[in-house]
Amino acid sequence: MLQFVLGPRAAATVLASQAIGYHAVTGLRSAKEGVCFAPLAPAPAGNTIRAMNQPLDPWRLSVAPMMDLTDRHCRHFHRLITRRTRLYTEMVSTGALVHGDVARHLQHGDAEHPLALQVGGNDRQELAQAARLAQAWGYDEINLNCGCPSDRVQRGAFGACLMAEPQRVADGVKAMRDACSLPVTVKHRIGIDRIERYEFVRDFVATVAEAGCEVFIVHARNAWLDGLSPKDNREIPPLRPALVHRLKQDFPALTIVINGGIVGDAAIAEQLRHVDGVMVGREAYHNPWSMACWDRLFFGDAPQAPPQREEVEAAMLHYLEQLHAQRQPWGLAARHMLGLWNGTPGARRWRQVWSDHRLKNEAPALVARRAAAARCREADRRELLDA
Ligand SMILES: Cc1cc2nc3c(=O)[nH]c(=O)nc-3n(C[C@H](O)[C@H](O)[C@H](O)COP(=O)(O)O)c2cc1C
Repeated sequence: MLQFVLGPRAAATVLASQAIGYHAVTGLRSAKEGVCFAPLAPAPAGNTIRAMNQPLDPWRLSVAPMMDLTDRHCRHFHRLITRRTRLYTEMVSTGALVHGDVARHLQHGDAEHPLALQVGGNDRQELAQAARLAQAWGYDEINLNCGCPSDRVQRGAFGACLMAEPQRVADGVKAMRDACSLPVTVKHRIGIDRIERYEFVRDFVATVAEAGCEVFIVHARNAWLDGLSPKDNREIPPLRPALVHRLKQDFPALTIVINGGIVGDAAIAEQLRHVDGVMVGREAYHNPWSMACWDRLFFGDAPQAPPQREEVEAAMLHYLEQLHAQRQPWGLAARHMLGLWNGTPGARRWRQVWSDHRLKNEAPALVARRAAAARCREADRRELLDA
């Protein structure tokens, strides 16, 4: 199975990553410490990757940037399940970074690495400033959003509509690269509106690569900018993964990551036969346990007992207790773990307790006990019914 999933290129990746200590993880810590896994050594900077000319594939698997979802609490939770998967922030507009509360947007935990900041913007100076901030705040990558179709973003003339202005994107990428030594990457679509020609996305990639971008994360569907909501824009325009595969064939030296509708380990493995990496969004968020075997299957971590849901829950509970002690609303973090037990008996009851707003001022430990009891009761009941 491992052979099937990894293939020769990935095996080289694992060896290379071990050689530079990227693989230096020490396994489980006690749940009491609040962190289930020891943090990874920081990801190597882009220049290191280029200098070593090694196929490190830090982009092999990632969780997509998702507004209102992938905040620091969510990333903390995901990191308890997978140590190696690259995590992305929600999109932050460069305007908010340059003129707003920087700490609020950029604060993150040490355990979140490898971690990329996604920004939305089109102004070279603001993009450069965002890149400097990303580096100063310890991010491992800065990613430019060229895929968001929302009206608000279109009014700001950034996101997906930037695909119509490849040279502008290239100038922005260059400004960011000049301002920091982080990898500067771009996330985009295969086209906008009804432009279906492969040449459109090919020329976009060629122009932006010319400015030094080496990593392209491609959502394999068009963004229809004329009237579809962002949600519909993630579902209605058809997925065309073959175009992304073709990009990899035409630009073998670039890192091409595919995104959009990829669900399950077999589908990920299939995509990795064609491209360098897979980015998963909604499935990772709604069924977080789908990530439980990724480190072993796709990053070649030594076979070991996968983390148990109970351990992740205990580590998360400790995190919620810390928030509660600081008088922060722990519900903002707990909401991200509601899918933890999905697919197991009693998951719905467990979720109901954690999302019961009447309990929001209680100590998380109490809510956890109630949720666990509700889950086990329901599991027992189901077992009796099945017997
Ligand atoms: C709630 C939500 C918010 C999103 N916000 C962003 C965002 O801030 N930046 C971005 O590049 N994509 C955003 N996306 C798009 C995802 O990154 C991803 O491209 C899309 O969901 C397709 O991947 P999937 O089918 O694996 O979910 C968002 C998606 C969702 C569901």
